[in-house]
Amino acid sequence: MGKRAKRDIILLILLCQGMIFNERDQELRDLGYQKHAFNMLISNRLGYHRDVPDTRNAACKDKSYPVDLPVASVVICFYNEALSALLRTVHSVLDRTPAQLLHEIILVDDDSDFDDLKGELEEYVQKYLPGKIKVIRNTKREGLIRGRMIGAAHATGEVLVFLDSHCEVNVMWLQPLLAAIQQDQRTVVCPVIDIISADTLAYSSSPVVRGGFNWGLHFKWDLVPLSELGGPEGATAPIKSPTMAGGLFAMNRHYFNELGQYDSGMDIWGGENLEISFRIWMCGGRLFIIPCSRVGHIFRKRRPYGSPEGQDTMTHNSLRLAHVWLDEYKEQYFSLRPDLRTKSYGNISERVELRRKLGCKSFKWYLDNIYPEMQISGPNAKPQQPIFINRGPKRPKVLQRGRLYHLQTNKCLVAQGRPSQKGGLVVLKACDYSDPGQIWIYNEEHELVLNNLLCLDMSETRSSDPPRLMKCHGSGGSQQWTFGKSNRLYQVSAGQCLRVVDPLSHKGYVAMAICDGSSSQQWHLEG
Ligand SMILES: *[C@@H]1O[C@H](CO)[C@@H](O)[C@H](O)[C@H]1NC(C)=O
Repeated sequence: MGKRAKRDIILLILLCQGMIFNERDQELRDLGYQKHAFNMLISNRLGYHRDVPDTRNAACKDKSYPVDLPVASVVICFYNEALSALLRTVHSVLDRTPAQLLHEIILVDDDSDFDDLKGELEEYVQKYLPGKIKVIRNTKREGLIRGRMIGAAHATGEVLVFLDSHCEVNVMWLQPLLAAIQQDQRTVVCPVIDIISADTLAYSSSPVVRGGFNWGLHFKWDLVPLSELGGPEGATAPIKSPTMAGGLFAMNRHYFNELGQYDSGMDIWGGENLEISFRIWMCGGRLFIIPCSRVGHIFRKRRPYGSPEGQDTMTHNSLRLAHVWLDEYKEQYFSLRPDLRTKSYGNISERVELRRKLGCKSFKWYLDNIYPEMQISGPNAKPQQPIFINRGPKRPKVLQRGRLYHLQTNKCLVAQGRPSQKGGLVVLKACDYSDPGQIWIYNEEHELVLNNLLCLDMSETRSSDPPRLMKCHGSGGSQQWTFGKSNRLYQVSAGQCLRVVDPLSHKGYVAMAICDGSSSQQWHLEG
């Protein structure tokens, strides 16, 4: 069977899995979106076992790993998760991990409300999963951060592996992680996070990117700088990452404890991933993404639950992290959020003491050595000199030049107003082959430059905003785009694809969305 025919069949299967046959289906689907922000109907129909495409680079498939690797305790915290997604996570681990490397799986129920996560789960575990699975029940809501600490306290394997409760691990996912930790106990590793669509649950490959952050203390993805690529191990080499996304990582269990676990003064979720990332690098450890280890993750469109009293835990946690770790650079955060300067953040003396006891380096050291790409901004900073900051006076090499053509509608992506208007939107319009204002340049920095003037930019602070035309800043992130398979146009820091909002409308609005390969997301840059 041809590759295309195979893909069509897979698509057809996926469409059928999503089909609504009766009111019960409709109810389940609507309820699923409401409770979980993904398609529970399809999740339930998929069952607990399925094969996923092996998305590893070909070079990974030839690699072999030592047989005497350390054993792993897999810790999965869940709160009001769809039972089918949770059990598929568990079974993917059991199905694709050599039994001798899997010490145990620890499920931490963070006081969920749903009945099936109590009795039905208990029964299922006892009947079908005896031995290796422990279920721990929190008696009150602790949140992800303390939940992971509780799970870790019950673990007895040499390595801790934290997973989210809606993942599916890929072929040979664990060995590369364990091998890196075995070589150096202070190495913390993350798999590449593949995408499981929240709408179709289709599994697709992600490009290899690494973690960064902005001064709003939000995590973002960055393209891997060329200087980090091309070592002797080529595409299989671990990639130094300034931060981690947070949900999925592995580290030696004693090292996790020695390094101070998490800040237990942080609530529910948010900011803990940057906190542990800074702590790892500043206190003598290392953080890598392992390209040969891949784990699929359902990317939900929103977080379906809040905190118990509706507090903004992200802000509370970010404040704690700023006061403990950022030194004088916390000014960068406060210049963006002046309202937080005087806001209380609880008692941080234990964390400050931890930093002293571990003899950690300064945040300046971290920026200089681990994340030199980070830009300093704010009222006290020098005015930004966009194009030249990171690349010197040299203009990046043009890779391609032409119209950005939307395949489904036969229209072109152009400026809504004048192509020279900073902050202007882009929309679909009829292609005009005599208009130089419709010409995009795609360059080696992965920028899309319209009319040789402005860059297509995806705001890093509000991912719900549509992309706009902004001055090219040359520091990647919000202005980095890649053309991927299925003609997708992928925005690196948002981790999403460009799509046309309503292909039948004449308005031609575009927005960012989770990549799903649909025809509204297919683009072609043509000369
Ligand atoms: C903060 O916590 C430390 C130790 O946990 C304690 O000794 C100290 O008294 C606390 N400070 C305040 C102001 O409560």
